[in-house]
Amino acid sequence: MEYTLTLIKGDGIGPEVTGSALRVLEAAGVRIRWDEVLAGRKAIERFGTQVPGTLVESVRRNKVALKGPTGTPIGKGFQSANVLLRKQLNLYACLRPVSNVPGVRTGYDDVDLVVIRENTEGLYSGIEHEVSPGVVITLKIMTEAACWRIAEWAFTYCRYHGRHKVTAAHKASVMKMSDELFLRCMREVSERYPFIEYEEMPIDVVGLHLAMDPTRFDVLVLENLFGDIMSDLAAGLVGGTGLVPGANIGDDCAVFEAVHGSAPDIAGKGLANPTAMLLSAVLMLEYIGERKAAKRIRNAVYTVLEAGRVRTRDLGGTASTSEYTQAVIDAL
Ligand code: NAI
Repeated sequence: MEYTLTLIKGDGIGPEVTGSALRVLEAAGVRIRWDEVLAGRKAIERFGTQVPGTLVESVRRNKVALKGPTGTPIGKGFQSANVLLRKQLNLYACLRPVSNVPGVRTGYDDVDLVVIRENTEGLYSGIEHEVSPGVVITLKIMTEAACWRIAEWAFTYCRYHGRHKVTAAHKASVMKMSDELFLRCMREVSERYPFIEYEEMPIDVVGLHLAMDPTRFDVLVLENLFGDIMSDLAAGLVGGTGLVPGANIGDDCAVFEAVHGSAPDIAGKGLANPTAMLLSAVLMLEYIGERKAAKRIRNAVYTVLEAGRVRTRDLGGTASTSEYTQAVIDAL
């Protein structure tokens, strides 16, 4: 079967890491016709907006996209392309599976957790105003509908992926209405899944436990800002954002992308680690049902990392993005 999927190369190291993924997907024999569209800085230059209509239409049509990181110009009034895309396509669930990678030693063994972040509201509503000079308000929006939706999605994910425990992170002691609403929805949905353990934990305590013993977590469910911060922290536990895949999933379509940003400091130098993008492509293959190819690519990546001879600079090696990609292809 030949698939038609949307490709967003993105900014900074985006073209390098998506280029790596395309080479590996082709070598694995997956037949994909890429519908390439612009987002981020390149889209601003061409269309004056981060997320042009052609991009949204392409993902709506093809249902699945592979996306490189996009840069957001700070202080120029542009909203993040990611925030816009997630809202426009209703990609309400952000999935980030975080586990140890063979051969990459960190302070923790046996990390195997999944961060599920609500992607459309919370403190990332993007609604801000200056009440009077020097006084600014940012709104944290929480709706029962979105809280229910992410709770349902999280427990369904657990059921299909053999996960056994859900931790709902919150700060209900301070944000008594919004986070209590989130917890109420999580609690009500959890009652339908008595075979999945459910607990609630203040976000600061989640941070403490992640730093001291991340193995105590299985699936973490969080509102938008908490989820953003904790998923990067979790990535740091297993070797950094260059290693952790991600997906933004809605009822109609899904966008697969690495956790990291466009890394302007190393862009165009062949230094980027494409592992996170390769593993995001693996998630994408699993989503479209190409499980065999997904497994082969994941195994090839793990084989190269475990052998340790070919590594990018962030992991202490000297290989370029391209040399590392070739090693993965050879391992296939
Ligand atoms: P970043 O993730 O781009 O970079 C942080 C550090 O990690 C830098 O030192 C960078 O060199 C390194 N790094 C990141 N990815 C790497 C990789 N694959 N291999 C090796 N090293 C890597 O985060 P930063 O600097 O906060 O953001 C830069 C830009 O990216 C901003 O414009 C931001 O808005 C955007 N961004 C986009 C995201 C997306 O499109 N999903 C996510 C996060 C940030």
